[in-house]
Amino acid sequence: MDNFWQTIKKPIIALAPMEDVTDTVFREVVLSVSEVDALNVVFTEFTSTDGLCHEKGRAKVIERLLVNASEMELLKSRGTKLVAQIWGSDPEKFRLSASLISEMQIFDGIDINMGCPVKKVVKNRSCANLINFPEQAKEIIYATAESTPLPVSVKTRIGFSRINTEEWIGHLLETAPKAITVHGRTRKMMSNGPALWDEIGKAVIVRNQTGSSAVIIGNGDVCSYTEALERIQQFDVDGVMVGTGVFKNPWMFNKYPVEIDIAQRISLMRKHITLYRNTWGNGKDYNVLKRFFKIYLNGFNGAAHWRDRFMRANGFDEALALLDEFENNAAI
Ligand SMILES: Cc1cc2nc3c(=O)[nH]c(=O)nc-3n(C[C@H](O)[C@H](O)[C@H](O)COP(=O)(O)O)c2cc1C
Repeated sequence: MDNFWQTIKKPIIALAPMEDVTDTVFREVVLSVSEVDALNVVFTEFTSTDGLCHEKGRAKVIERLLVNASEMELLKSRGTKLVAQIWGSDPEKFRLSASLISEMQIFDGIDINMGCPVKKVVKNRSCANLINFPEQAKEIIYATAESTPLPVSVKTRIGFSRINTEEWIGHLLETAPKAITVHGRTRKMMSNGPALWDEIGKAVIVRNQTGSSAVIIGNGDVCSYTEALERIQQFDVDGVMVGTGVFKNPWMFNKYPVEIDIAQRISLMRKHITLYRNTWGNGKDYNVLKRFFKIYLNGFNGAAHWRDRFMRANGFDEALALLDEFENNAAI
């Protein structure tokens, strides 16, 4: 199986895994306005290995790994890679989940979440808490890699309560992961304060010293393609992963900044709502969709007024009717 992390055209620019954000719908929306070389890897939301291994729970959890045919077509035509991210604490469940995911034959890689800081996952010795249990983390990586031909990567932080970059990345490298994404914050920092890119740079130095061929991706606070290139140059990472930057500008994955007019914003918003309705119907909380509206409804006169009206719209039909009204009223 192709280790795409090695063969993919560099630099690697990835859209981060984000729960309730990077489902098949949002990935397709973003891909549709991104240049091929300015976004070449996308990730699913993190998906529980406990859930995947639970006979009854599986049906719900596996929705996170849903890939629409239209997204798949786009991925294939662009050559963009899709990575399934999983989390948990039991190596055997990683083993089973990895083989299940491989059998689906839709993913190009499997990523292990060793970075999520929230209490309910950390208390179970999973995600960021694996930084405190390196032997268990290694067992998990080995079990995953043994049961899939797909390249296995890890996404993590620079420490748990304190910065511990070199030691922790050194542990991970022993297992020969194909890539490591380093979010430049400790678990204690949560999402606060600036990401510490010097620490991400240290991860690259450790990788170089050990002679490992693992790709290192830096993550934290990148909001434009130009910024991504600057980080790559300054810290010698193989690529950059972007999370919340995409909320400020879904068009950010283009080599040159693009001027977006109202018509383009509204057209992308319509695409998002329609795809979301066709994909999830009432099977997913409509309020999850609402959170995206502010991405589109800004940067023009009267945006606050329209945001307010859209936030009060109740359901797909009302939101789409409001879009019609907006287009009929606004000089776009
Ligand atoms: C709403 C939200 C959901 C997230 N869900 C995940 C997730 O499922 N898996 C993961 O590894 N990181 C998750 N993250 C963390 C991001 O992938 C990323 O590491 C973090 O936002 C820092 O990058 P940024 O500064 O570019 O946003 C999430 C972040 C946000 C804001």
